Amino acid sequence: MKEKIEKILAEVKSFQADSKEALEQFRIQYLSKKGTITELFTEFKQVAPEMRKEMGMRLNELKNTIQDIIDEQQAKFETKSDAKTDLDLSLPVDAMNGSRHPLSIVRNEINDIFKRLGFVVAEGPEVEDDFHVFSALNFPPDHPARDMQDTFFVTKSPDVVLRTHTSSVQVRVMEQGKLPIRIIAPGRVFRNEAISARAHCIFHQIEGLYIDKNVSFADLKQTLYHFVQEYFGEGTKVRFRPSYFPFTETSAEMDISCNICGGAGCNICKHTGWVEILGCGICDPNILKACNIDPEEYTGFAFGMGIERIAMLKYQINDLRMFFENDLRFLKQFENA
Ligand code: DAH
Repeated sequence: MKEKIEKILAEVKSFQADSKEALEQFRIQYLSKKGTITELFTEFKQVAPEMRKEMGMRLNELKNTIQDIIDEQQAKFETKSDAKTDLDLSLPVDAMNGSRHPLSIVRNEINDIFKRLGFVVAEGPEVEDDFHVFSALNFPPDHPARDMQDTFFVTKSPDVVLRTHTSSVQVRVMEQGKLPIRIIAPGRVFRNEAISARAHCIFHQIEGLYIDKNVSFADLKQTLYHFVQEYFGEGTKVRFRPSYFPFTETSAEMDISCNICGGAGCNICKHTGWVEILGCGICDPNILKACNIDPEEYTGFAFGMGIERIAMLKYQINDLRMFFENDLRFLKQFENA
């Protein structure tokens, strides 16, 4: 058997394929199920026990040599389309380069907290009509938010706009008429604002809406209080200040105790110890009616927050433009977040 192996080894080493077909023939002759190597492995069963180790090694060596010859010569016949690329498409996703954008990280974290409370994610279009962005949300026709300065118009009469807030998704979900409703709507919004460290014409919001029988302001407070404890840490204080939004009555803005200075006063909280993070309130009966929900039977609460603002507080980022510049020095800091 030893001689046989040596003979084959010499044979294959001098092999030069002159075509793809010849190489395949070579592979079939030696490595296929009925090929020489298989035959030798069958013979190997008869080898005397004291010779087994050595023969086994030689046989495996021969097999590997043949495989190497095939691999090497294959390159000669490869056309462009079946050439190997540097991309290994079978790699698991988390082994790939890159990282999530900080706004996606924060959005996912916020979503997760509300999902655990039974909220589901809802989506709506970024290009919207006046009804869903304004009218159904009780914005009077002359409300300043409809002014050209805030809203990007796609067409005028009928008014088609880039949504200025994700509250439009509230209307889309209420229209479907399935009650109770418990949704959060994360998404991109647009406002015609000059770009600065504190404002941008594109930013992101998360809207929340809960409609059921007997939903009260106490439910709203407890839900948001829970969110703040989860996201900013236990012991973070909240306070509600009366405010105004056309689609809520009662309306409030919610502040949290400054997570940078712990309430002692710093630049971020302008030395007040508090930072505003969202608007909220009890759904105005008019918006329920606009979507054919009986306000005598159902009540609801809503809230809306800017994702950039939450991210800025969480990571102590003082310039909103950072989120949109895609500077790798900035983005790489979130690789392990
Ligand atoms: N849509 C408001 C905005 O863009 C945010 C908001 C405030 C949403 C109060 C709400 C709410 O649902 O109840 O400024």
